[in-house]
Amino acid sequence: MTDGGTAAEFPRRPAEAGAGERLVSEPIVPEAGSFDSATMSRGIPGVPARFSWRGKTYTVAALAGTRKNLRPCRSGSGERYVHKHFYTVETETGEVMTIYRTRSGSKKDSWTLYSIDESRQGATREGSASGPGPAPIRLAVLVSGNGTNLQALIDAAADDRARENVDGRFGIALVIADREGCFALERAQKAGIPTALALPPKGVARPEARMAVSDRVLALAREARADALVLAGFLTILSGPLIDEYANRIVNIHPALLPKFGGKGMWGHHVHEAVLSSGDGESGCTVHLVDSGCDTGTILFQRKVPVLPGDTPDSLAERIHREEHAAIVEGARELARRLAREGDR
Ligand code: GRF
Repeated sequence: MTDGGTAAEFPRRPAEAGAGERLVSEPIVPEAGSFDSATMSRGIPGVPARFSWRGKTYTVAALAGTRKNLRPCRSGSGERYVHKHFYTVETETGEVMTIYRTRSGSKKDSWTLYSIDESRQGATREGSASGPGPAPIRLAVLVSGNGTNLQALIDAAADDRARENVDGRFGIALVIADREGCFALERAQKAGIPTALALPPKGVARPEARMAVSDRVLALAREARADALVLAGFLTILSGPLIDEYANRIVNIHPALLPKFGGKGMWGHHVHEAVLSSGDGESGCTVHLVDSGCDTGTILFQRKVPVLPGDTPDSLAERIHREEHAAIVEGARELARRLAREGDR
């Protein structure tokens, strides 16, 4: 990389670039007045509809993803500002290019061609294995258990490949577990999806163990070039830089109607026992963004089920589980839609 960037600035480091991704790092010239004014009005610089590089003009046909890289303020306030704003675009002539606008420093407002993904050249538009429309976002899915929610995601991603015009397309780049031997890993392996472990170190206090798991998840997600994370029954509470770097790009599914019956200790049968003891007439599941708290992030949506006379924790869990499988797929699609719309990846 010759643009002065560092490995930490953009997860897709040269050493980690996908096979076939050619790093370029040369200036491009956007065509004046060809920016997307809708996104500019929200403070996002907008993708140029056309730009030239090495004397040739490229027309942007689709936005496949965006990502910001942040830098800490020199004041030491702990705040961070956007230094570069990356866009992966598909051109009308079939190239898949990542370009970025530098938003601060001596190269402020300049545009650069960062890389060309030669392995995907022309592969994400017409005739692609994933059908026409925006390229799928790359998900890392985090698991700890049986993985029925993961299975719902695997099945939906497979169905999407045969369908056209899917709103919120996603693919699973990696499955990460915080324990060995959980059945979710087998499901991933059977589907041909790469897997990895983020195990808590032994003999350390719980906060340090959580931080170590979170840091490992971050490293793996970067390496897999994951655009977003889905927690599908992941039992480690995440913390640290992962939460910042993937802010608004992590969703969790919780088997109750948050904000009730959430927080530490509220997992698995504990949740359903608490609901039954409360006498509530309904329960359900919640898909929410993940922040540094436990089950406290913004709620995206919920699906409700009745609590029936004679319910046990198991019968209630089973009824909710069926709803979860639709909800988690919708959560992943919602991430894909948000990322495409708001330029937050
Ligand atoms: C689900 O109930 C989910 O809500 C909770 O963990 C459970 C995971 O189930 N966070 P599975 O492993 O996906 O079957």
